[in-house]
Amino acid sequence: MIKKKNIIKIAIDSPAAAGAGTIAKAISKHYNLFYLDTGKIYRFVAYLKIQFPKKFNDKFIRSKIKSLSAKDLSNKNLLSDEVGTEASVISKIKKIREIVHSLQTNIAYYPPKKYMGSCLDGRDITYKIIPDAEFKFFITANVKIRALRRFKELKGLGKKTSYKEVLKSIKKRDKNDYNRKISPLKKTKDSLLINTTNLNKRACFLKIKKIIDRKLKN
Ligand code: C5P
Repeated sequence: MIKKKNIIKIAIDSPAAAGAGTIAKAISKHYNLFYLDTGKIYRFVAYLKIQFPKKFNDKFIRSKIKSLSAKDLSNKNLLSDEVGTEASVISKIKKIREIVHSLQTNIAYYPPKKYMGSCLDGRDITYKIIPDAEFKFFITANVKIRALRRFKELKGLGKKTSYKEVLKSIKKRDKNDYNRKISPLKKTKDSLLINTTNLNKRACFLKIKKIIDRKLKN
């Protein structure tokens, strides 16, 4: 694929519930970039497995990914912890990653025309999907803070769960994501580390904005 060069591309990697999505959305809005939460695509595939265990094979996944719509990705069922944990299991499968990767690369390099560029967040964005991104960030936070944030989010969605359960599932997901053989979560040398443990949303946004503005001016 010929990669379009004259657009801004922001690549973000982060462990679960570190606040990357919230920051990425705000940054995308500010700079008029197309935002893609790549975890949602793995969640979508995981949900297919839960819904259609018997039909779940490469061909089926490929056809569902081909006809994927924004509405599919905004399905509230994708937000549950069960789907998140299943996503961290199916995302270890090489064939599934290949199917999902081409879609992500396409969006990163060819965002819809009205946008100035793209911003993607996930686990392998900085080194696999957009290795030549103009901006790369690794956003993280202490695991207990992440669990607390996710717990509040799930409670807000009316899901029945406890802080302890959420903490356990986030730890499990971290283990899966950091240790898998294919596309593990890692901070690349050329990514800037943003630790959100003691920063609120606004402070994170401003920190990243400052970095981007400084580079854009040069
Ligand atoms: O970001 P989110 O927590 O929604 O992602 C769900 C799961 O999808 C992650 O735990 C991870 O295993 C997988 N994922 C991935 N690569 C990405 C994004 C998400 O493997 N780029």
